[in-house]
Amino acid sequence: MKIDVFTLFPEAFAWYASQVHVTRAAELGHELRLCNYRDHTPLTHQQVDDTPYGGGAGMVVRIDVVAAALEAVYDVPCDAVRGERRVVELTPKGRQLDDALAAEFAAHDLCLLCGRYEGIDERVANLVSDRVSIGPYVLSGGEIAAMAVADAVLRKLEGVISNPESVVAESFAPDLEGALEYPQYTRPAEFRGWKVPDVLLSGDHAKVARWRAEQSQRATDMTRRRS
Ligand SMILES: C[S@@+](CC[C@H](N)C(=O)[O-])C[C@H]1O[C@@H](n2cnc3c(N)ncnc32)[C@H](O)[C@@H]1O
Repeated sequence: MKIDVFTLFPEAFAWYASQVHVTRAAELGHELRLCNYRDHTPLTHQQVDDTPYGGGAGMVVRIDVVAAALEAVYDVPCDAVRGERRVVELTPKGRQLDDALAAEFAAHDLCLLCGRYEGIDERVANLVSDRVSIGPYVLSGGEIAAMAVADAVLRKLEGVISNPESVVAESFAPDLEGALEYPQYTRPAEFRGWKVPDVLLSGDHAKVARWRAEQSQRATDMTRRRS
């Protein structure tokens, strides 16, 4: 699949793009491409934003700049891009990202639009197929949100995570029937008086499986009660 990220700060993705599962995804033929809106702006002095109509604080990313970037990259009218791929605006006003949405996105090519400042001009609604939030709080830009979406999606692609068992038995996965994962422990078996549960050291696989199922249910129930 192709994940194209439109941003004013492509350098923010350098660390993420170098992560081993992301480079493995590239080896498998998937692509993470970065596009700087500024490289395609039709305005002088590389302008990309402007003051909000009606007044108020901050700057707004211009719709003509976003449209020009989409048309330069895809060579089709900007409102036709969503006919070929999911065009996703990252915004705190969007549908909250969850595992089901990540799985849905994994079946498509993606174009992720990062906002900055006060966000993107509302007329971006004419260009997108989805508006996605990564949580009910405000970040300074869409880059971290785009990485969260890309990462949740890339984990769904076969072969990207080297051990396939890691992804079938993790939180929200079908093997756990959408529940949270059970607690994980490793050596040392005791640290400053904090002990690993005896059952995990017992070598009794059936008992371990029963304990994990109970713990998984308990963690899920506690999270549901809190939300
Ligand atoms: C400072 S925010 C704009 C917030 C906007 N003025 C508001 O009050 O809703 C700038 C950009 O960060 C990104 N962003 C901020 N919080 C986000 C969130 N929770 N989920 C996804 N993107 C977010 C969006 O791309 C947004 O356009």
